[in-house]
Amino acid sequence: MKRVNIIGAGLAGLSCALTLARFGVPSRLVSPQPSERAQSVMAEGGLNAVLDVMGEADTLEEHFEDTMRGGCYLADPNAVWGMVCEAPEIVRDYIALGVPFQTEGGRLVQRNFGGQKKKRTVYAKSSTGKVLVTSLVDAVRRLEAQGVVERLAWHELSGLSIHGGTCNGAWIRDACLNQMSFAPGPVVIACGGYAGIFGSRNTGTTVNTGDATSLAYASGVELANLEFVQYHPTTVLITGKRMLITEAARGEGGRLYTVRNGEPWYFMEEKYPELGNLMPRDVVSREEEAVMADPTCSGVVWLDMRGLTRSVWNDRLSDLRNEIIHYLRIDPAREPVPVEPGIHYCMGGICVDAGHRTNVANLYAAGECAAQYHGANRLGANSLLGATYGGRVAARSVVADFDSFDWPDEPAEIPNDLVIGPLETPTCDSSVDARIHELLGASMGMKRDEASLKAALRDLDLIDASGATGRARNRVSFAKAIVASALSREESRGAHFRADFPQTREDMRATTVCSFDGVGPQIQQRPIPEKRLGGDAS
Ligand code: FUM
Repeated sequence: MKRVNIIGAGLAGLSCALTLARFGVPSRLVSPQPSERAQSVMAEGGLNAVLDVMGEADTLEEHFEDTMRGGCYLADPNAVWGMVCEAPEIVRDYIALGVPFQTEGGRLVQRNFGGQKKKRTVYAKSSTGKVLVTSLVDAVRRLEAQGVVERLAWHELSGLSIHGGTCNGAWIRDACLNQMSFAPGPVVIACGGYAGIFGSRNTGTTVNTGDATSLAYASGVELANLEFVQYHPTTVLITGKRMLITEAARGEGGRLYTVRNGEPWYFMEEKYPELGNLMPRDVVSREEEAVMADPTCSGVVWLDMRGLTRSVWNDRLSDLRNEIIHYLRIDPAREPVPVEPGIHYCMGGICVDAGHRTNVANLYAAGECAAQYHGANRLGANSLLGATYGGRVAARSVVADFDSFDWPDEPAEIPNDLVIGPLETPTCDSSVDARIHELLGASMGMKRDEASLKAALRDLDLIDASGATGRARNRVSFAKAIVASALSREESRGAHFRADFPQTREDMRATTVCSFDGVGPQIQQRPIPEKRLGGDAS
C-alpha cells in the first residue's frame, strides 16, 4: 500500500496521520518509542483557543497579537493567524474524541497562562498533553485496525532519500531487529524538539536529541531560528533532568519571590504590575537570573503557592502537587518551592513555509521540530496547539501534492553513509555528547556573547575534525548550527539575549536560516512578511 511516512508519533505526528486518513491517504507512523512516551505527553498546562467561555470578550485578534508579541514579531503572521482561527475547532474535535477538559457546573472553563491577559487555556488538570495524546492514540488505533495507519514503534529514521532537491522516501531502521528497510513515499518529520542535545538541563525527555532534525540538516534541509531556546522560569532539578512546575501554578495564583534584606520581595509583581508573574517566559527567567545574582537578595527564587485554594489543588493541580511531594518531599500547599529557569522548548528547527513544506520537495515538518508560530519566544499553551494544527496543515499539503508524487519503482540501494546507531534507545550518553552538553551549556545560556559562542564553535570544530561518525557526527554538526545561528544574531530578542548586543534591532527582524554546505553552517537572514494578508476576524 502506498503510504506517507510520518517520523514521530507524538501530537503532531498523530494529528497528521488522522488528517491524512480523513482524506483517504494511508500513512506509516515511525517512532523510536511508542506515542505514550513522546515529549507531548509531558506538556502540562493546556491549550490556547478563543472560546470566550469565561465572559471576558476574548477575540481571535487578541490571541493573534499575544502570540506575535510574545514571539517578538518573528513568526510568520499568516501562519499564526491560521493557527489562531482553527484553535476553537481543534478544541471541539478533541472534545468529540472524549478529552476531559476541565468543566465547572457542566461548562468548559479556561485558565490564565503567561503572556496573555485573557483566560484562554483549556486544560485537563496538569496533565493536558497526556490526555490529548491518549485521545489521538485511541483514534489512530481504530485506523490501524482498518489498515489505514501502520504504527512502527521502536523504529527510527536512518536516512532520507533525496535526489535533485526531491525526497522520495526514507530509510527506516527496526531498532529491535537492527534491520533496515526503504519506505517510499512523502516524508513528514514530526520528531519533536532538540532540547535533549543540551543534556540534563531540560524539562523534556533527554531522548529528544533532535537526531531526525540533524539528519535532515546533514541531508540539505534548511533549519531556522536555532538560537531561540526557551528557558522556563519554574523548573527544579531531579535525577538526570529538570522537572517542570507548570505555568498554570502561576496562572492559578502562584507568586514568585526572593528574600531581600530579610523580607520577601515579590519582584515580578513590583516590576510588571500588569502581567506580574505571568509575563512571557523569557522576561520572567531573566528577572529570576538577575535577582539570584543580586547581592542584596538571598540568591534563591521561591514559588509561593500557599495562597491557592483547596479546590484549586483538588480540581485543577492535584497532579502537580503529587509530583512535587513525590520528587521534592515538599507539600506546595504549605511550603514555597525553590525554582530556577530550565531549558523547556525549541522555537527553532526545520525551516518550513506556511504549508509546512521544507526546501526539499515532498519533505514536510510539523510540531516542535518545525520553526513556525512561536518566533523568538513561545507563549505557554501554544505548543499543544501548534503541534496539533501543524500536523493538520502538513497533512493537507501532502494531500495537495500527493498526485504528483513520483513513486520509486525499485527500493533504493542502502547508501554507505547511513546512520546505523546502536541497538539501545538513542539517548545522549557518549563522550562526544557529554562534550556537546558542556559546550552548549557554556555558550547557549540565557545570556550569550561573541567570545563564548566563538570558543564553543572552535571546540566543536575540533570534535568534528577528530573524526566523529554517524549519529555523533550529525549531532556535532547540528550543535555548530545552533551556536553559529546565535553568533549571527547580533541583537537581543525574546529568548536570545546577547550581553554584547542588549538592544533589539529592527533591521534584524528576520528569520535566521541555516544550511549545511558539506563543511559547516551557512547562515542567511530571510525576511518575514510585514503584515498578515487579509483574514479579517469579524
Ligand atoms: O508551564 C507549562 O505548563 C508549560 C506549558 C507549555 O509549555 O505550553
